[in-house]
Amino acid sequence: MKVQSLNDQGDRSDDVAPAFVGRPVLVTGGASFIGSHLVDALVAMNARVRVVDDLSSGKLANISRHVDSGAIEFEQADLLDPDAAAKAVAGMHSVFHLAANHGGRGYVELHQADCATNLLLDGVVFRVCHLAGVEKVVYASSGCVYPNHLQTDSTRELYLGEDQVGPPYDADNMYGWAKLMGELTLRAYHRDYGLKSVSCRYFTVYGPRGHENHAVMAMIARALIRQDPFEVWGSGRQVRNWTYVSDIVAGTLLAATRIDDARAVNLGTRERIRVIDAARQVLELTGHRPEIRLRADMPTGPMNRVADPSLAEQLLSWTPRVRFEDGLRRTIDWYVNNHRPNDVAARLAHRLTER
Ligand SMILES: NC(=O)c1ccc[n+]([C@@H]2O[C@H](COP(=O)([O-])OP(=O)(O)OC[C@H]3O[C@@H](n4cnc5c(N)ncnc54)[C@H](O)[C@@H]3O)[C@@H](O)[C@H]2O)c1
Repeated sequence: MKVQSLNDQGDRSDDVAPAFVGRPVLVTGGASFIGSHLVDALVAMNARVRVVDDLSSGKLANISRHVDSGAIEFEQADLLDPDAAAKAVAGMHSVFHLAANHGGRGYVELHQADCATNLLLDGVVFRVCHLAGVEKVVYASSGCVYPNHLQTDSTRELYLGEDQVGPPYDADNMYGWAKLMGELTLRAYHRDYGLKSVSCRYFTVYGPRGHENHAVMAMIARALIRQDPFEVWGSGRQVRNWTYVSDIVAGTLLAATRIDDARAVNLGTRERIRVIDAARQVLELTGHRPEIRLRADMPTGPMNRVADPSLAEQLLSWTPRVRFEDGLRRTIDWYVNNHRPNDVAARLAHRLTER
């Protein structure tokens, strides 16, 4: 499976590499879409990488070349189990905590109780990190912590800044509440015990190895199977800032080296794109000309969610490098080269709302 993610790191990985050379790091959920790209980057920097993943949505294939070559240590385990979690963090300098019960819009709206298990998962992982004396915890948080009530008007030029998460909290479904509690838990550990950490708020990440339960991948899958009418969930006017996975990995690594005080930082572009426009771009790039059918009855999420990345620019010197159009081309190339239309058609309905 060939991906280009590291090429985008360029000088950014040179900046952070010295902090990771020879260092024992754990990536929980490291077989996932984002996790596996992070593992690629850490291996390239000669970190001593351990991945613990229960493979509930992650795929061993995403990291198999590192496992097979002996470049990383892999353990299949459920981190909800405190003993497994304690074993996972033992001897680690840094822990990138990406394991989560998570999926795209259809999943987080339709599987609230399952997403609520993240409250427990994050609590267990942070506690064992503290008990084991881990130096640094890097948490995969989400744009879903932002208050829903701010995000209702798609015509507003709104950029969500970190300070807009506060009382009265109004997170996006149980998934968003759990991410918010994860952030607050890390702040408490920092205040009470000095545990160093950072919460990275990822915004709608896409790229190779992505899952069809996320909008861009779903659009590409529909184009591959020549769906006609071509379904777009909601009115299509929802605004998002899809952020390419290599930019997310670069921001996560910078945050790991430059923020210690448990604050949260947005990792998302300023590129405002309506869902309907993203769908049209996918259709254009794949040469598919179907009728578009809007599905107002399906989960749509907030109408207007775009990050203000100023804090990341200021503290991390991070700016996203991959424009949506370029990232989309790469993602389509990867999807088309790694999927057969008949297989996708057979399981797409399930993949849209399941992990
Ligand atoms: N993809 C996005 O747009 C996005 C946006 C915001 C935040 N995030 C966060 O980034 C992280 C990675 O997400 P992703 O999109 O790459 O894919 P994902 O949701 O598939 O990643 C989660 C990973 O955790 C593993 N996992 C789940 N429960 C576990 C458990 N109990 N024990 C061990 N492993 C477990 C899964 O097998 C999977 O590999 C998640 O924390 C997710 O919430 C993702």
